[in-house]
This record gives sequence, C-alpha cells and structure tokens, in this order.
Amino acid sequence: MTTSAEHSPTVFMHAYGCQMNKLDAELVLSELGRAGYTQAADVKQADVILFSTCSVREHAEERVYSNAGALKHLKRRRPELVIGILGCMAQKDGPRILKRVPHVDIVCGTRAFHRIAEFVEAARRGEGPILATEEDAFTVPDRDAAVRPNRHQAFLSVMRGCNSFCSYCIVPYVRGREISRSIAQIEEEAKGLVGDGVREITLLGQNVNAYGRFFRPRRSLADVLAKLDRLPGLLRLRFVTSHPRNMTDEILKAMRDLPTVCEYLHMPAQSGSDRVLKDMRRGYTGAEYRELIARARDTVPGLAVASDFIVGFPGETDEEFRDTVAMVEDLRFQNCFVFKYSPRPGTRADRWPDDVPLEVKKKRNVTLLATQETVSDRAHQAAIGRRLEVLVEGPSKKDAHMLVGRTRTNDIVHFPGDADSAGNLAHVRVTDATPLTLSGTVISGSVPSRAGISFRRFELPG
Ligand code: SAH
Ligand code: SF4
Ligand code: F3S
Repeated sequence: MTTSAEHSPTVFMHAYGCQMNKLDAELVLSELGRAGYTQAADVKQADVILFSTCSVREHAEERVYSNAGALKHLKRRRPELVIGILGCMAQKDGPRILKRVPHVDIVCGTRAFHRIAEFVEAARRGEGPILATEEDAFTVPDRDAAVRPNRHQAFLSVMRGCNSFCSYCIVPYVRGREISRSIAQIEEEAKGLVGDGVREITLLGQNVNAYGRFFRPRRSLADVLAKLDRLPGLLRLRFVTSHPRNMTDEILKAMRDLPTVCEYLHMPAQSGSDRVLKDMRRGYTGAEYRELIARARDTVPGLAVASDFIVGFPGETDEEFRDTVAMVEDLRFQNCFVFKYSPRPGTRADRWPDDVPLEVKKKRNVTLLATQETVSDRAHQAAIGRRLEVLVEGPSKKDAHMLVGRTRTNDIVHFPGDADSAGNLAHVRVTDATPLTLSGTVISGSVPSRAGISFRRFELPG
C-alpha cells in the first residue's frame, strides 16, 4: 500500500451505535473528502481506519475493543497505517483507549470531529498518538450532501446532546448538554440534500422533540417540520427519538397537518412499571405514558408508535416486568427495541447493584420480543388486502428480483418491480405478511424519478 502523492489517501469507516453516530461518521467522511481522502473499498487497503463508536451498553464497547485490537498485526506490517477511535467511547474512555489498544493513533471525542482532517494529517506525519476529548465548543462540520449511504434517504441532526439524565444512561455524559441548531442552518442543509435527490429526511436528536426549548423566542420541532414540509421535491419527513416528557400537542398537530410528516413516532417508554420508571428518572408513570399514546393517536389518525424497553433494570421484579409485558400487549406498538440493562460507569443507576441475573435478563428479553412479535403479526395480518403508500428504497437484499420500501408508518414492504423506481412513491396492495415484513404487488407508481443525481455511495458496516 502506498500513500505517495499520485494516490489519494484512502479511509475506511466502521460505524457503530445510533443513527446520530452514523450521521457523524458521514460528516467525518465529508470532512476527510474535502482534505483529499477517498473511501477505501476494503479495510486491508485503507491508509486510515476509523471507528465511530458507541458506549450505550458494555457490549457495544467490547466489540470495538476487539475489532480495533485485531488490527495490531496490520499496523505492525504497515506502521504508516492510521487508526482512529471516534465518538462516544472515545469521549468516555479517552486515554484508557491508548493503554488498552496501544496501536491506536487518534482518540477523538464527540465534540472534536470537525478537526478530524488535522488529526489524521498529524498522525500520518508521525505526531501521534493524538487525544482530543477536551473540546467543549461544538462545531458541526460542513456537510457534503453527496456523501451518504442511501441515495434517496438522509439523516439530518437538528439538536445534539441530552439534558435528561435518565439514571441508566451514558449519553448525557458522552454527548454533553442539549444544543439545537438554528432553523436557517437546518433548512439550508435540507435544501442541499433534497437538491441532490433525497426524498426522505429523518431529523435526528437524542431528544428530538425538545428541539429549540432554550431559544428566545422559544422554537419547537413543529417549526422545523413546518419549514421543511414546504421544500419542493421532499416526499417524507420523520424525526427520532422523542421523549414522552417533551411531547407537545403542537408537534402532534404538525404531524397530523403537514403532508410530508410521516405518522410514525419513536417514543421510548423504557418500562411499564411505575417504580422502575421512577428510579429510571423518566418523569412519567405507566398510566401517563398510556394517556400520552392515546392522545397522540386521537390527534394523528393512523399513527404508529415504536418504543424501547430496558429489561433487568436494578431491582426489577417479575411483577414489575409483567407491567412492562402488559404495556406492550395493550399499546400495540409498531415495533419495540428491547435491551438488557447494562450498568454504565458514572451514571446514577450504577450505584445500585446490578442484581437481575443475566439469565433472567435474557429470558425477559426473549419474552418481551415474543410479546411484540404477536402484536406485530396481528397488525400485519390485518394489513393483508390493504393498499399502502411505499417509498421505494431499491432492490431487496434477499432477492434481487424484489424491491424493498417502507410505508409512512415504517413497515417494510417487499414487492416485485423495476429498480429504476427507487426514490419514487408506489402504491402497493398487501398480499402476504410475516411479523417482520409485508409483501405485495404494485398498483401504481406516482412520482417520476429524477435524472442526473450526483451520489457517492458508501457502506457503513457495523
Ligand atoms: N435518546 C434516545 C435513546 C438513547 S439510547 C432516547 O432517549 O430515547 C437508545 C436506547 O438504549 C434507549 O432508549 C434505552 O432503551 C437503551 N439504553 C440506554 N442506556 C442503556 C443501558 N445502560 N442499558 C441498556 N439499555 C440502555
Ligand atoms: Fe439517555 Fe434518557 Fe437522554 Fe435518552 S433521554 S439519551 S435515554 S438520558
Ligand atoms: Fe451510543 Fe453515543 Fe448513540 S452512546 S447510542 S452512539 S449517542
């Protein structure tokens, strides 16, 4: 491998964690693209290998330590190779990463990655290791609209950080305090994306519905939605993740009234038990969460709600877990993400014994997923025969003759069709269903595809 002047240096990115982290990885690649780096097709050929990391559960960290550790031999063979650990784990573990994985050249925290090109250059000059976790003024790097993994869909961060301090969660520590971007900045970025062929934008924030609450005059996510809804060419808008405590009627009405805003709300409950919710510091009871979902469904016809749950939180009894199962049975979520509690150093809950045995956590995890599967299966069976609007994403990974797309309520649909229709809306009659997906046949397509879209595809494994 050479890094000589006639070859542009190459970078390989592994992205872990949430959508915000995946977007940060895209921003890092934009930044490096401007500095002359291209993306390596293969990790073994890359001049620079970066890991955009997650700290939310211990397991996520162990994977990164193991994958970065495995690069020891490659680094020995090619000492000029630059290895960087970015993101939440870098912010959390800082210098400990250099101790544990001494062949790492760069440790770059969550508020320093706008300087990534400078760090990589310094490391290539042999000035490593570089530790950048102290930055507190955050600058969002300029985005190259063409650097994104999907042609017709993109993430856009509207706020970063979190002030909620749920007792189990590391995010406020690694991502810092809540900061919202201006509506003008968001609009400009969205225009760039839509101009480059994006049809669906998902607005991101750790607590996305808290957007703008510290602005004077106060702004809200509803203002952002109203602004972007008018962009010509944009077909769909989504936003994740919402906190129940910050949900307002104004946002729900915006979902109801704005044509591009999809009827899909990812608003984690985390538990159905009042004692657990209190110790989690979520700021609501099970009954209040249920009332909120009822109000949301009354306001937004056809609304689908997705939720996250943590099983095996300290002290969680069988009875408390049953309250969670009952909530999942009753509230008919579109989907549930279930996580086994993982103690995170420095959080409030870490002071309490992690006293639910792993076996019990596993069992509860399986039980809750099975409960949701029954709910999803019932909903999907009921969808058979219905006509649904689908945004075509492209060929299905499992079967090249089939296309895959999503409904406004985020259900995955498979159907036969022409790959050229990616990025268009199609109307599909559902003919078959499993708990995970729907399949059907196209009744009609609607929006013509646009020619001449510039787009550099890349993969974000992890
Ligand atoms: N900001 C988002 C999600 C943050 S992390 C929100 O508040 O909804 C994504 C999910 O990981 C959380 O919703 C929670 O269910 C889970 N999670 C967070 N900390 C965890 C921990 N210590 N152990 C297990 N799961 C956790
Ligand atoms: Fe973590 Fe709670 Fe903030 Fe979500 S709202 S990121 S779970 S502290
Ligand atoms: Fe993980 Fe950081 Fe996201 S901890 S969940 S990558 S904010």
